[in-house]
Amino acid sequence: MTKPFSQACENNKDPILALLAPFISNISSVLEVGSGTGQHAVHFAQALPEVVWQTSDLACNHAGITQWCDEAQLDNLRRPITLDLTQHWPVEQVPAIYTANTFHIVSPQLVVRFFEGVKRHLSPHGKVVIYGPFNYQGQYTSVSNAEFDAFLKSRDPNSGIRDIEWIVDLAQAAGLELEADHAMPANNRLLCFIGQ
Ligand SMILES: C[S@@+](CC[C@H](N)C(=O)[O-])C[C@H]1O[C@@H](n2cnc3c(N)ncnc32)[C@H](O)[C@@H]1O
Repeated sequence: MTKPFSQACENNKDPILALLAPFISNISSVLEVGSGTGQHAVHFAQALPEVVWQTSDLACNHAGITQWCDEAQLDNLRRPITLDLTQHWPVEQVPAIYTANTFHIVSPQLVVRFFEGVKRHLSPHGKVVIYGPFNYQGQYTSVSNAEFDAFLKSRDPNSGIRDIEWIVDLAQAAGLELEADHAMPANNRLLCFIGQ
């Protein structure tokens, strides 16, 4: 099997790491939801050797993520567990949760389920980092995001770019406060939350 590769991950991994690293400087482990190819996991685990990085995704993506993990040979990088947002999460308490480019792919119901999982599994004073495109008060931040949203919806009517206000409301209901909303390259955002 050819190792999966995402050019977008190559482009955004360093800008994300530059903000992620200081935000999780006191964190011992991170659960990643929707690891995709596994490229972010390898890059972040390499750069942050003191952080145990647990990958997860639907089972169909495990072979690719495992290939990236095995090739990297990092003591702090964990092979994927099956975390499907339609199901209970197969973890106990975790001090931090990271997810990138998942909220515009999964249905709104599964975005809600994500925050239910956060409420159940995030340790007290834990941290949550979310990367991806977002709208503000229903408005796209760029023409390219509007086109991307139309493409997503043509592929799956349940997909689509979410409103940041809705995400912040869901996060607050899960006990999180928005610490930072960073502008990122290619009209994406990095949202950093801290739990109670
Ligand atoms: C666009 S990819 C993003 C992958 C990677 N995080 C990145 O930034 O390139 C969306 C990810 O969401 C995952 N996903 C889709 N449905 C899911 C579900 N029900 N539960 C958990 N993850 C899901 C996909 O398998 C995929 O890895």
